[in-house]
Amino acid sequence: METKKIEKMRGALRGEITIPADKSISHRSVLFSALGKGKTHVKNFLEAADCLSSAACMRALGADVERVGEGEYIINGCGLRGLKEPSIVLDAGNSGTTLRLSMGMLAGQPFLTTFMGDASLSRRPMGRVIKPLAQMGANIRGREGDKLLPITILPKHTPLQAIQYDSPVASAQVKSAILLAGLYADGDTTVRELYVSRDHSERMLSAFGAKLKREGSAVTISPAEELVSPEEIIVPGDISSAAFWLVAGSVIEGSDLLLKNVGVNPTRTGILDVLFDMGAKLELLDARVSGGEPVADIHVQAHGLKGVYFGAEIIPRLVDEIPIIAVAALFAEGDTVIEGAGELRVKETDRLSAILTALNALAPGSVEERGDGLIIHGGRPLKHAKVDSYDDHRMAMALSVAGAAGAGADIEKPSCVRISYPSFYEELERLSR
Ligand code: S3P
Repeated sequence: METKKIEKMRGALRGEITIPADKSISHRSVLFSALGKGKTHVKNFLEAADCLSSAACMRALGADVERVGEGEYIINGCGLRGLKEPSIVLDAGNSGTTLRLSMGMLAGQPFLTTFMGDASLSRRPMGRVIKPLAQMGANIRGREGDKLLPITILPKHTPLQAIQYDSPVASAQVKSAILLAGLYADGDTTVRELYVSRDHSERMLSAFGAKLKREGSAVTISPAEELVSPEEIIVPGDISSAAFWLVAGSVIEGSDLLLKNVGVNPTRTGILDVLFDMGAKLELLDARVSGGEPVADIHVQAHGLKGVYFGAEIIPRLVDEIPIIAVAALFAEGDTVIEGAGELRVKETDRLSAILTALNALAPGSVEERGDGLIIHGGRPLKHAKVDSYDDHRMAMALSVAGAAGAGADIEKPSCVRISYPSFYEELERLSR
């Protein structure tokens, strides 16, 4: 089996890191540009496997997605009613965002589309999107009672029905799918969440001229005749990728890192709140707005951390960062308690169980599972161990940081980092020199 040897870091991490482009925003840039009318010049698009799945699906639906430089694309959109029936089964790969948002885009189209995906995506629940879309009148069929891939979206020749939907999960993918379908509805569609999930779709759809209104945790979209390209989208860096360096820089003694161009949309910055609570030494510099999204550089200096508690209300703001926060907790003094994190069970792998197994291999007796949460006992001795990424990109990177800051690690199935951060291992090696 392929393994990646992560050496214990000999010295501090120092220097600048340009953070790769935001995955969520890159997906949306290509999906919405395909759906809009006119040409969109996307700059700093994340050329990682997940976003390339979105690009390939949009090409198969008739959009002209042309790569004109590194991370630079010109997309000639089809318009809201101009997508074409694909002649192939669309492959969403490992990407829940590609699949769930596309289902919303296609629910009201007068043609048939079938989706497939990789083994991980084929296990993930799609009923959470199919159910509200079916309430809107969409006709979607899938395996195991219309819950799993492969999924077929049948042609729809009449407008979808507008709904008011109380989402049982705070999920930006579910919310975005309903909002996209709402563009094709016969009236205003509202999605209400218990806690507000990332709002990149709302921001970008507004830039394309869609009419959206937010009231508390509810967002309403009006049907539209057309979406019009904003001509240019500049994608900021991904705080979910910066997260690995925020933690590595905090726990590896003497480190001093400047993370350049990090998206700091308040619906994504839960990790900053938690690290501040843990005592991390972070500084946001040059706060600015780029392409409708808040951006900053983040200066991180190593500093002793202490355990914290956090629960359900902050989870949507740090949902992808829990593996690396768990690693931070290993190096902290005292216990960290995480509650209300059941959503982690339906990510690329069951991340609660993956964290439990892998961190206990690296620091025996450190992690306990409690319901849909974890208790992490910080400060236990670390040893070198072989650990499985479960083919989950964020697990592979979190475990690499644990190994680098601890006693080394052999990561099984390491190449999944291509999903969101293809240059991660090179960056780690560059910083350790
Ligand atoms: C995403 C939403 C989140 C997140 C995923 C990306 C998005 O998923 O975990 O990595 O781009 O909308 P959920 O909507 O399932 O919470």
